[in-house]
Amino acid sequence: MSGDGGEPHDWPAYYEKTGARPPRETLLFALDRFDTEPATGPRLAVDLGCGSGRDTIELVRRGWRVLAIDAEASAIGKLTARDDLPSGADLTGQVARFEEAFWPTCDLVNSSFALPLMAPDDFTTVWSRITASLKPGGRIACQLFGSRDSWTGRSGMTFHDREAVDGLLEGFNVEMLREEEDDSTTVRGEAKHWHIFHIVARKV
Ligand SMILES: C[S@@+](CC[C@H](N)C(=O)[O-])C[C@H]1O[C@@H](n2cnc3c(N)ncnc32)[C@H](O)[C@@H]1O
Repeated sequence: MSGDGGEPHDWPAYYEKTGARPPRETLLFALDRFDTEPATGPRLAVDLGCGSGRDTIELVRRGWRVLAIDAEASAIGKLTARDDLPSGADLTGQVARFEEAFWPTCDLVNSSFALPLMAPDDFTTVWSRITASLKPGGRIACQLFGSRDSWTGRSGMTFHDREAVDGLLEGFNVEMLREEEDDSTTVRGEAKHWHIFHIVARKV
């Protein structure tokens, strides 16, 4: 899992290598939880940092309405051109940075390996907007980078220790909080120590 977490360079090459990979475990876990709960109609997910859509495609396959947001036009272009998009998929793509994007009240904010790619001030603002946008009973599914990650200290990125993660998740029932530390490689083949929090949490 850790080795395809991505790095803030050369996104088109990243999309090429990872776009067809299966959806993230955090998304699947959240969707399975929703499936045990009654719904009055199609649910709405916002996929922040959707890339070329490995998670978005699973959402639309499972009948979700999806607003997929990414700063890279090539990500949205690749997503909307996927030949495995079901016909009639209720999908809107938006090219925008999270810091500038607006999204409506929703059932799920999914953000796989993307939120740490913001500077701390921006992260704080966007996290508040995520929590405010979730309906009661809605979920966040995401990864955050831990303080022992070998990218710690890079500018334009945010890292959290366990205490800080617990603070972010106040007001949520935490359904998955898996801390992973692993020495492996990035998609570009560079050696890296990964420290990742895999999170699914339900807004109270
Ligand atoms: C590592 S990729 C992850 C893609 C996909 N979610 C996945 O799990 O494979 C991170 C994605 O987030 C997008 N991204 C990073 N920072 C962003 C920001 N501040 N606003 C919008 N998109 C951003 C990048 O363009 C990239 O597509």
